[in-house]
Amino acid sequence: MKTSEQSDWHKAVSASELADRRQAVVKPKGRQILVLQHGNQVFACDNRCPHEGHPLAKGVLDDECRLTCNWHNWKFDLVSGETIRGGDQLRRYPVRRTNGMIEVDLTEPPAAETRQAALTGLRTAFDEHDYTRLAREAARFEQAEGDFRELLIAAFDWAAAGLEDGTTHAHAAAPDWLALRSRLPEAQPADRLVPLVEILGHASWDALQQPGTFPLASGQADAFDADALTAAIEAEDEDAAIRLARAGLAEGGGALFRPVLERAALRHYQGFGHSVIYAFKTYQLLELLGPDAAPALLLPLVRSLCVGTREDLIPEFRAYAPALAAWDGTGTDMPNVDDFRGASVARCLDLIAGGSSDVDALYNVLMHAASDAMLYYDARFREQFDGPIGHNIDWLDFSHALTQLNASRMICGRQPKLWPAALLQAGCFLGRNAAFVDWDQDVGHWAVDEPDALFDGIFVGLLDHGQPTYIFVAHTLKLASALRAEIDHQPDAPWVPTALAALNRFVHEPAKQKHVRRSAHQAWSFVSGAG
Ligand code: FES
Repeated sequence: MKTSEQSDWHKAVSASELADRRQAVVKPKGRQILVLQHGNQVFACDNRCPHEGHPLAKGVLDDECRLTCNWHNWKFDLVSGETIRGGDQLRRYPVRRTNGMIEVDLTEPPAAETRQAALTGLRTAFDEHDYTRLAREAARFEQAEGDFRELLIAAFDWAAAGLEDGTTHAHAAAPDWLALRSRLPEAQPADRLVPLVEILGHASWDALQQPGTFPLASGQADAFDADALTAAIEAEDEDAAIRLARAGLAEGGGALFRPVLERAALRHYQGFGHSVIYAFKTYQLLELLGPDAAPALLLPLVRSLCVGTREDLIPEFRAYAPALAAWDGTGTDMPNVDDFRGASVARCLDLIAGGSSDVDALYNVLMHAASDAMLYYDARFREQFDGPIGHNIDWLDFSHALTQLNASRMICGRQPKLWPAALLQAGCFLGRNAAFVDWDQDVGHWAVDEPDALFDGIFVGLLDHGQPTYIFVAHTLKLASALRAEIDHQPDAPWVPTALAALNRFVHEPAKQKHVRRSAHQAWSFVSGAG
C-alpha cells in the first residue's frame, strides 16, 4: 500500500448536483467513494461496507448523520467515524469545495497508522472470537506491509491472561501452521492468510474458554536461578516460577532457561504428554516469531508446567517413577514391536528398561509400537456411550504418543540425559492404550504407496478443513507435521510404513468431536452413585 505525505485531491461531483441528489458514488483511482450531503455538511466514505462490502449507497442516512448499511444493520457515525453497531471501521475521506466542485482527498494514511488500526480492530475481534473480522483485520495488517510476527506476538500476549492452564494447542499448532504458510507461494496471499487466521482464532477461542482472567504474577526475582526455577515448578509455586522466568528473560532471554523447562517437562509423566509437546513446540514457535515473543510464549509455558496434571502419581502409572529410578543404561535385551501388543504399563516399562543400553534403537521400536497401536485403534470405543469414563479413548490418545516421541527426540538431542524419562513415558502411552486396540481388524487397505501425496493432501486439505473445533484440526496438523519430521529424519526406518498407514487411517476416520450421549450417560451414572 502506497503512502504519501502529499494530499491527493480528486474532483468527485459538482456541488449543485450533490445538492440535488444528496449522494453520489464516484470512482477515482478505481475506488468506490460515496459522497453524501446532510444539510450543509458533506461527507465522503468508502461505498463498500467494511463488513462484507455491500454498497452503503443503498443504505440510510438519518437525521443524526448515522449511516446504516441495510444488509446487516451496521451503523456508522459519519461525524465521529465511530462504528455504532457492528465492528470494523468505515474509512472516511476529507472533502472540500473548489470552484463549485466537491473534491475528496484520497491520500493513503501512513502504513503504520493502517497497521495500528488493524491491530486495534483485531484486539476487539480477538476478545469476541469474531472469526471473520479476525480475517479482515489480519488482511488489512498484511496489506499494509505488516510483519505477521508482530500480529501473532500481540495475539499470544492478549491470550496469556485468559489461559488458566497456560500453554494450549493453539501455541503448539502455531509453528506447524507457519511452516505450512511458508510453503505456500507468495503469489497466493489469501491462502497464506489462512494459517494466520487459524492461529488467531484458536488462541482467541482458548483464551475465552474460562470465565475471568488469570493474570501472570508481576515483577521479577532479583536474579535468575535455574535451581530455584526448577524447585518452584516442582512445588507448583507458579508466582515464584513466573518471577524467576521474568528474571531469566531480562538476563539472557528465553534460551537461558530452555534446559530448565525441558527438564521440567520430562520430570513427570505429566499432562498426558502435553508438557513435553508444549515445551518443544513453544520454543519452536519462539524461533519463528523472534525474541520479542518470549514473554508472551514462555510465561504461559511456565504456568502450564506448574499446573500440569502429574499422572505418574495415579495408580495406573505408579510403575513409572521406580522404573526411571532403576534405569541403569545397561539393558541389552532389545524388545521388538510385537512385545508391546497387549502389554500393561508395567510390562511396557520393563520391556523398555530391558533395552536401556541403546536409546536410539528403543526410540525406533517405540515409534513402531505407537504407530502399530494407532493403526489398530478399536474405533468402537469412539462410538461407545455407556462405558466408564476410563474408556473414553479416541484418536488423540494415540496421536499424542507419536507427537510426544517427536518432541522427545528433539529435546533429548539437546539433553541426552532425558532419554530414559522420554522413553519410559512413551511406554506409559503404550500400556495405557493397549486395551483399546483391535488386533484382528484388517488394516491392509490403509497402506500408503505415495507418502508425499498423503502429506500434500493433508496439508492442502487443512487450508479448507471445514471442521468446527480447533483442537481436532490442531491435532491433525501436529501429527502430520511430527510424522513428516520423523520420516524426513529417518526415511528408511522400519516403522515408517506403519506410521504412514496409521496417519492415513486417522485422516480418513476423523475423531468424533462431541459425545452428547456418552456425556449424558456417564453423568447420569456418576450422579446416581453407580459410577
Ligand atoms: S455488509 Fe454492511 S452490515 Fe454487513
